[in-house]
Amino acid sequence: MTIIVSHHIDRLQGESRVPGDKSVSHRALMFGALSVGETRITGLLEGADVMSTVAAMRALGAEVTRLGDGAWQVFGCGVGGLAAPDDIIDMGNSGTGVRLLMGVISGQSITAIFTGDASLRSRPMERIMIPLRQMGVVFTAAEGGRLPLTMTGPSDLMPIDYRPPVASAQIKSAVLLAGLAAPGETTVVEAVATRDHTERLLSHFGAEIRIASDAAGAKHITVVGQPELTGRSVRVPADISSAAFPLVAALIASEGQLRLPAVGTNPLRAGLLKTLIEMGADITLANSTNAAGEPIADLLVRASKLRGVTVPADRAASMIDEYPILAMAAAVAEGTTHMAGLAELRVKESDRLMLIATGLRACGAEVEETDDSLTIHGNGVPPAGGATIASQHDHRIAMSFLVLGTVTAAPIRVTNAETIDTSFPGFRDLMNGLGADMRIENDDNQNQEDAA
Ligand code: S3P
Repeated sequence: MTIIVSHHIDRLQGESRVPGDKSVSHRALMFGALSVGETRITGLLEGADVMSTVAAMRALGAEVTRLGDGAWQVFGCGVGGLAAPDDIIDMGNSGTGVRLLMGVISGQSITAIFTGDASLRSRPMERIMIPLRQMGVVFTAAEGGRLPLTMTGPSDLMPIDYRPPVASAQIKSAVLLAGLAAPGETTVVEAVATRDHTERLLSHFGAEIRIASDAAGAKHITVVGQPELTGRSVRVPADISSAAFPLVAALIASEGQLRLPAVGTNPLRAGLLKTLIEMGADITLANSTNAAGEPIADLLVRASKLRGVTVPADRAASMIDEYPILAMAAAVAEGTTHMAGLAELRVKESDRLMLIATGLRACGAEVEETDDSLTIHGNGVPPAGGATIASQHDHRIAMSFLVLGTVTAAPIRVTNAETIDTSFPGFRDLMNGLGADMRIENDDNQNQEDAA
């Protein structure tokens, strides 16, 4: 087990490229595998979650080769052309990986068995099975609709119209990916728009995607089935969900400034930027451009005095993975921050609502938690810190509390910090390179090397 202890620093300064976007990385590999010809990917996230998807696509018959740092090549099998795997597919910690793959497998007349780590085996899969069963897929799952599960795609998949009961890009994507193999049109209707990487990237690979809005403001996303997808080049943006950690660390430090280049700024992912700017954060965007259909920009951040705000429930989808780190900013801000619409946080890699609330309280912050909201009372100075936080297989909980430890008077210890590798390999080195002081406990050699 790796334990990282984060010590107080005053200043964060410099420029760092954070790893590639996890959502786009999974999709680039999967869509490359469903295409004919060569896909070249640069900036791929080489974290454990995405490596589970690499292994899965190979097991399903795609040729996936690492060419260099973040540079990958995929030769796909075409829509409906994947092969039955020889063995169980273990998706590790990756909810996105397994749920999107369930959509992909639905369109192949094959049987696959999925499992994952303790965290993934406790997460709900029924939400994905419900629409896919309507399309004709047969599932057998562990109790409560959990992994391990076995699924068999039918030879005559049916297109459907589906309205997910919760705002979830994973549910939407699973249905659209299954719809690729169905004859006719498959439509997902979203009351609240979620991240649209699947739509953007599928279009980039040659699929026909139509988007419309109805009178009630719902978004209708239609994929036309049985296209020929063609291999493409994909430049993966830096992950805004990873950038969030050095970004908040720079904001809450006493002084300093940071540049984070080529970060994905898709509006359906950028709720954190909006919220922090409302809190008084000094964040500006420079060099705005596009990469494989995704907007990107450099983020320039300066240490700022933050104040509490109300974060409305309808913003949750655009920053669903960022509440743990926002909660750390809120604990340092002056005044009360109220965050609503957070029920989905209970079924992420951990029960994030509970871990944020208990962890912050252990650090001396004042927090109220309901079924689906968090209220954090800050007084403009960091809480005392000094706590040990068990990361519970949750990379974002681990990184959030390590960021808080950069400003608390007493250090914050995070146990099972190896979970950070799922989305942000090199996190500690990157943060220390900017001026943080995060040490591996009981590893004097490592810490001496760092000091040298
Ligand atoms: C993701 C969607 C979100 C998010 C996850 C990545 C995706 O999950 O939390 O980290 O890539 O589609 P939900 O769809 O369950 O909200």
